Amino acid sequence: MEREYFYSIMNGQGQLDYEIYLNTQDLLSCQKDFHQLCNQDELQFQIVHQSEELWMKLIAYTLLNIDDYIKMENTNRVITLFNRVHSIQRIMLQQMAILETMSPKEYQEIRLVLGNGSGQESPGFRTLLKMYQPLWNSYKIHYLDKYDLNIDNIYNTDYSHCDAYVVAEALAEYDELFQKFRYYHMQLIQRTIGMGSQSLKGRSVDLLEDGMRMKLFPELWEVRNKMTDVWGLQYGRVRESIGFTSDF
Ligand code: HEM
Repeated sequence: MEREYFYSIMNGQGQLDYEIYLNTQDLLSCQKDFHQLCNQDELQFQIVHQSEELWMKLIAYTLLNIDDYIKMENTNRVITLFNRVHSIQRIMLQQMAILETMSPKEYQEIRLVLGNGSGQESPGFRTLLKMYQPLWNSYKIHYLDKYDLNIDNIYNTDYSHCDAYVVAEALAEYDELFQKFRYYHMQLIQRTIGMGSQSLKGRSVDLLEDGMRMKLFPELWEVRNKMTDVWGLQYGRVRESIGFTSDF
């Protein structure tokens, strides 16, 4: 195929309605010029990162809408929008696999041209890190405190699969997928540059490991521990087998 010809048509002319509405001219110019790429993996490296930024922008925008609906106690809307957020989070996990098709050597070449750029500077991720606490506060005020409920009631003592429980589970799903993102990202690093390299010692590794342990909504995980302990009191630490006892 004639490479230069295809380079010249890939961005389109930007004049058709589809191109104008989606601003494809600008969108497709957000990557390095084909002739400036340091190797054949760099375009996918840029596009995966840019796509992840777009997905995080949509998550952040959707969380703002979810927060409004939580305040209105419109559970149907909250759940539908959380389903959207969860789907995006799953797509973000799958996208990590694209980067695993890059060889360690080719990544090292890209790393040389990254400057001091780091995922810590991601505007999308930084925004999401500022959103979970206010979201939790809204949930607590409108679904729990207002009705004199707490997490223990809705999960255990007065469990009825009520709206407060369903929204809590949507928050838990968001939290779990957030943790999975960090876990997949860690595996990606391991695959690409390794976690034990000299240049990753100290802050980078601590930051990544602390992140993996972090829970956005700790109360939603503590309740499960507590329930297992409370229910476990009925049978102690070691249970009788439910099978037939054998003489052999
Ligand atoms: C080959 C691919 C990748 C490598 C080797 C890599 C490497 C790293 C490393 C070493 C860090 C630790 C901080 C530092 O030293 O700068 C980091 C942080 C980070 N990276 Fe990546 N990364 C990759 C892909 C991605 C992708 C696709 C995203 C998607 C948005 C991303 C988002 C982040 C974020 C958000 C942080 C901050 C971590 C946190 O606060 O938990 N990275 N990355």
